[in-house]
Amino acid sequence: MRYLAWVGIPARVFNVGTYRRQGTPQPNATFFDPHNSEGEKMRRAAAEEAVSDMLQWFRAGKGVVAILDATNSTKERRRWINERCAEADVETLYVESICDDEDLIMNNILEVKTTSPDYKGQDPEEAALDFRNRIRNYEKSYETIDDNEKHFTYVKLINVGSTVIINQIKDYLSSRLVYYIQNLHIKPRSIWLSRHGESEYNLTGKIGGDSNISERGEAYARALPGLMKKSGVPPNTKIVIWTSTLRRTIQTARHLKAETGYEKLEWKALDELDSGMCDGLTYEEIAQKYPEDFAARDEDKYNYRYRGGESYRDVVIRLEPIIMELERSENVIIVTHQAVLRCIYAYFLNTPQEQSPWMEVPLHTLIKLTPRAYGTEEQRFKADIPAVSTWRAKGTSAKHQEYPTEIKT
Ligand code: SIN
Repeated sequence: MRYLAWVGIPARVFNVGTYRRQGTPQPNATFFDPHNSEGEKMRRAAAEEAVSDMLQWFRAGKGVVAILDATNSTKERRRWINERCAEADVETLYVESICDDEDLIMNNILEVKTTSPDYKGQDPEEAALDFRNRIRNYEKSYETIDDNEKHFTYVKLINVGSTVIINQIKDYLSSRLVYYIQNLHIKPRSIWLSRHGESEYNLTGKIGGDSNISERGEAYARALPGLMKKSGVPPNTKIVIWTSTLRRTIQTARHLKAETGYEKLEWKALDELDSGMCDGLTYEEIAQKYPEDFAARDEDKYNYRYRGGESYRDVVIRLEPIIMELERSENVIIVTHQAVLRCIYAYFLNTPQEQSPWMEVPLHTLIKLTPRAYGTEEQRFKADIPAVSTWRAKGTSAKHQEYPTEIKT
């Protein structure tokens, strides 16, 4: 859902468990035994309610993709969903995830299920065992998608994408979704984000360009390996450094690369938002020279495209392959630019489009993101090296200025 929202496709999750919890908040595994007729009745009612709400949401014209998050693990259930959707002119794409690797299953249960609302306040070991028993109950009635369902559009992922079977994918949106799903993995990892060290352009308040880092920017570049260590990098962790192709990010990552020997990649797609005719100007100069543009950008910063340059929306489009690659990757530190970092951050933290361009991302601060099943954890590590502030509040043409000693995080 985060990915779809980020690329501008209205999407919503309908989670059958959430509906079921309204009547049965914390059932144990026996509730999910297909021979438990009371449990079956309640699960069916929850699924019906979720599907009704989902179709109502489509009818209201608000959505493009709904994610019906449930077991849906019998042929009968899939046929019923398909019929209800077909009546409402909604296409279905089934995602089946099959895993027979016991270690993977137990790790996943411990990572994901013990923090589920079904087990809130319970002992994690007992919760994990109960969920393992719930899976055994699911298995009793489980029917994999097979040749009898050849007329359905589906993707089957075996052992977290080590084998992928796709069937009847007929349009662009479905193929994009399948490609995205194929790239996902569940290995624990972190992504570190940093802006380049303070640049010479930052000192004069100019935007764009390809200037060198300032003396204080160089001090940040030297401090970056220590800051990474402070953020908690487990021993023997392989990390890849990604920078843009602009000098200020390459210079910022230089000492990190030299001291750690991490592999490094330069991506054109990570270059700063192209400010077109405004490249090399300060915000004050833009406000004077192009007052209408300046006001239009304040009005809708996400969609405003600099003359001859880019908008935030354009940046998101060019970052899509970066997000795909990030999803496939494990530990990565990205040294990039303010607008690009805001867009990447918005993807992980699900920040609404109208907010992300105004987000404050201070210089000389390392952000560590750790994706988890129910959201992304964020930590910030500030280097004790002063820098100008390049943050501009809506409706101002504020001159760049020194940060106060305490940076808001
Ligand atoms: C649940 O109740 O948690 C899942 C129900 C279902 O998927 O059928």
